[in-house]
Amino acid sequence: MKIQKSPKPAIIVIFGITGDLSKRKLLPALYHLIKSDLLHENTRILGVTRQNITKKDLFDNVDLCVNEEKNICDPLAVKKMQKITQMHTMDMSIDSEYEKLSNLINVIEDEQNVCMERIFYLSIPPQAFDQIVEYIGKNKLNIGCQHEIAGSNLVIEKPFGFDLDSGKELIKKTGKYFNENQIYRIDHYLAKETVQDILQFRYANPIFAPIWNNKYVDNILIQATEEIGIENRINFYDKTGALRDFVQSHLLQLLTLVTMELPEKLNSSQIHHNKQQLFDQIQPIPKSKVEKRAIRGQYEGYKDQVENPLSFTETYAELELFIANHRWNKVPMRLITGKAMGKKRTDITLQFRTDKNGEYNRLTFRIQPNEGIELRLKVKKPGFAQTSQTALMDFDYEKTFDNHGHPDAYERVILDAIKGDHMLFATSQEVIAGWKIIQPVLDVWSKNSDGIKIYPIGSDGPN
Ligand code: BG6
Repeated sequence: MKIQKSPKPAIIVIFGITGDLSKRKLLPALYHLIKSDLLHENTRILGVTRQNITKKDLFDNVDLCVNEEKNICDPLAVKKMQKITQMHTMDMSIDSEYEKLSNLINVIEDEQNVCMERIFYLSIPPQAFDQIVEYIGKNKLNIGCQHEIAGSNLVIEKPFGFDLDSGKELIKKTGKYFNENQIYRIDHYLAKETVQDILQFRYANPIFAPIWNNKYVDNILIQATEEIGIENRINFYDKTGALRDFVQSHLLQLLTLVTMELPEKLNSSQIHHNKQQLFDQIQPIPKSKVEKRAIRGQYEGYKDQVENPLSFTETYAELELFIANHRWNKVPMRLITGKAMGKKRTDITLQFRTDKNGEYNRLTFRIQPNEGIELRLKVKKPGFAQTSQTALMDFDYEKTFDNHGHPDAYERVILDAIKGDHMLFATSQEVIAGWKIIQPVLDVWSKNSDGIKIYPIGSDGPN
């Protein structure tokens, strides 16, 4: 797939450049953008860290080429990346340090002799967001290049808050210095090629439009299971759980893409407008129904792993939701996510009613892995009898597109943030709507461990 080069020079300031997310996702994505020559030649990377870490230390400890074929690096691209990267040690909790940061950015811009789009990428634990944004704002780093012809942007990662109240508070605090157009809230699922294809598929194949409703669709299942457990994210995960980590963001976003009204044009404002309408129509589960319509589980051995024998954080969550509109009235939407399960798979299945035998046609978007789309149809079984059997129509990305691969989600979000394209980011209203939907379940689940089911590692989750 051909992606457009960023037309703008940018200075990408990464807070927490030595952190896990930066090393696993961000730096490999930047490497690949550099290798593919998709960044403006004046782009610079400024790594902000508390520790006194040199550029050499950083590059010695990161595997830039994890996503490359056979993990092989292009030495020229590595060299180029090292050349445009600079480290800056600072205590992010001290106001006056931001003045020094501002001076440094001005110096870099003077050296390049261009105004650069400023991208403040907060790759740090969410508890630190508020303070850093406050100091960025107080030191006028939210204003943009010293000659004021390039903007300043804030890029933040989910989770956006911890619940409805803290989500609103975070939005208020970031909104004090950055307007909505300057903020990029990453939900990296939105930037996956196969997720982008959901709307494109619906748009480009109007043959499905007449049956995309409760007259034909019996139910929708969205599942995102992982083989990995919580790895070394113990502190974060034990306070977070699957509902906050996955359902509030990734799964609700997927649900809206499948069920929202198709806009006339697939542009950012129309998509966000229709998506918001749908978000507002998803019915939160009433507290009295949580026991029946929300299931939680925890994998065996989790309590030992987090060294908290009393932990009842869920590593598996399953919700049944309904959408209160004419199109989807009474169609159950099941959302499932879990860690340490049998296999990694994210897919979305629309199950269509057939007239007889309680059998179904199914349309499945295989988001990952083994990316593709499959349609299960009934066909006549060859022979003399008039009987039918299910046949699979299978589109496979790798085979169809000749194994050319597609850009990693993080490459796409970095480029879009520089270009100023908000289509694949979550708006503040979407974030709030997501919290509203799951808040009653959070409230009930936070009270006690009633009903939590322990499931074996590598299984399909709780019975
Ligand atoms: C993150 C979650 O948002 O997505 C992680 O915090 C999860 O818990 C990850 O493992 C999964 O992302 P992907 O792209 O590997 O499916």
